[in-house]
Amino acid sequence: MPKWGFYMQKMFVEGGHLLNGKVRISGAKNSAVALLPAAILADSSVTIEGLPQISDVFTLGDLLEEIGGSVSWDGQTVNIDPANMVAMPLPNGKVKKLRASYYFMGAMLGKFNKAVIGLPGGCFLGPRPIDQHIKGFEALGAEVTNEQGAIYLRAKELIGARIYLDVVSVGATINIMLAAVKAKGKTIIENAAKEPEIIDVATLLTNMGAKIKGVGTDVIRIEGVSHLSGCRHTIIPDRIEAGTYAIAAAAMGKEVVIDNVIPTHLESLLAKLREMGLPIEESNESLLIRPKDLLKSVDIKTLVYPGFPTDLQQPFTSLLTKANNTGVVTDTIYSARLKHIDELRRMNASIKVEGGSAIVTGPVKLQGAKVNATDLRAGASLIIAGLMAEGITEITGLDHIDRGYENITEKLTNLGAKIWRDEMTEQEVQELQNS
Ligand code: EPU
Repeated sequence: MPKWGFYMQKMFVEGGHLLNGKVRISGAKNSAVALLPAAILADSSVTIEGLPQISDVFTLGDLLEEIGGSVSWDGQTVNIDPANMVAMPLPNGKVKKLRASYYFMGAMLGKFNKAVIGLPGGCFLGPRPIDQHIKGFEALGAEVTNEQGAIYLRAKELIGARIYLDVVSVGATINIMLAAVKAKGKTIIENAAKEPEIIDVATLLTNMGAKIKGVGTDVIRIEGVSHLSGCRHTIIPDRIEAGTYAIAAAAMGKEVVIDNVIPTHLESLLAKLREMGLPIEESNESLLIRPKDLLKSVDIKTLVYPGFPTDLQQPFTSLLTKANNTGVVTDTIYSARLKHIDELRRMNASIKVEGGSAIVTGPVKLQGAKVNATDLRAGASLIIAGLMAEGITEITGLDHIDRGYENITEKLTNLGAKIWRDEMTEQEVQELQNS
C-alpha cells in the first residue's frame, strides 16, 4: 500500500521562473473518492485504473479495509475485493478526515441496508449540510438519525422513489445513486447535478450491472437490480487539476502543454481565459497555452456544472492580480470560500471583499511572504501566487494540498518552477497549531 506523509512540511516557491513543457494530469479526485466506496456494492472484485496518488484516496482505501475489504495496489491501479466486507460502524477516526467518507453512507446502505458513519470532515468552506443526502435516503425507506455526531441509517428494505433535490448537489446525487442501484423498483432523481464525476461513477455502476439512465442531465432514472458484480474501470482525468495548471500556465507560462485532459469538461474556464486575451489551442486530449504579456481582467461567478467551478475560483483569483483592471469573483456555491484572500493580501494583492464578492485590482507585483493554506484550493491559489511573486513564498498547510494534488512539487519542477519542501521545526508546528 503506498503511503503519504508530508504533514509537517512546508513548501517554498521562488517566484519569477517561467513554466515551459508538458504536464500530465492525474485521475479525478472527486471521481476517485466516490468510485472507491462504490466498489462496496459489488459481489466480486472491482479494479479501478488511473487513481491519483493523493491522501484522500489512501484514506478511503484504509476505510475499505476497516470494513473487511481486501485492497491491493499496483501503482495507480487498485483492486478491491468486497467478499468479506461487513456493515462495520465507522463513527469516528478516518471518516472525519475527508468529506467524501459520506459516500460510505449510500454504498453501505445500498449493500447492507444499514450503516453508521461519522459526520464527514473535509475543507472548511462555510456550512456544508448533507440534508439532501438524508432526504434521498429517507425517501428510499431508510430511517436516519444523528446520534452523537454519527449518522445511523437503517432500512428493512430499500424501495425506489421519486426524489427532487432542493439544492443541486454533487454529493447528494452520487450518494442517492449508490443507495438506489440495488433498491427495489424505480428511482427518479430530479434536479440532479451534472458534473462529469457523476457520469464517471454511473459508468462504473453500469459496468457492475446497474441500470441507470439520464446521467449528465438533471433527471436520473434508476431501475434497481438485485445483484452487482465486479468489473474494471478507468477513471476520467481531473478537470480541476487540469484547470489549476491552465491557470498557472496563464500566470507564468512560456509554452505549456497540459496532457490527459477532456477539454469540454473545462469549457467555462477556457472561455474566461480566452476572454482575458489568452490564446489556447485545444486538441482531443490536451491544451496548449502560450500566454501574451498583458491579460485583461474578467469577472467570474461560480455555478453548478457546466458553469465556472467553485474549485477553480481560488486559483483564478491569484491570476486576476496580474490582469489589467478590476475583476469581481463571486462564489454562489460556497460564499465563504474566501480564506485565501487574506493570505494573498499578505503577498501585496489588492483585493477588497464587498457583499460576499472579492474585487481584485491589478496588475500588482506580488511579493513572497509566509502564508498558510487553509484548504485545498486555497493551497493551489497560494502556489500560483508564489510562482508569480518576487522573492520566496513559504507555504504551510500542505496536508490540505496533498489531499488533492498528486506530486504537485514534482510536476511544477518539471515545468521549470523553483519549488521545494522542507521539514517544519517543532516550534513552527506549534505556532501553526496555535494560530
Ligand atoms: N448542499 C446543501 N445540502 C446538501 C448538499 C449540499 O445545502 O445536502 C449545498 C452545499 O452547502 C453547497 C452546494 O449545495 O452550497 C453544493 O454542494 P455539493 O453537495 O455539490 O458539494 P459536495 O458534493 O459536498 C463536491 C466536491 C467539492 C466541490 C463541490 C461543488 C467532492 C468530494 N467534493 O462537494 O470539491 O467544491 O462538489 O462542485 O466531490 C474540492 O475538490 O476542493 C471540493 C471542495
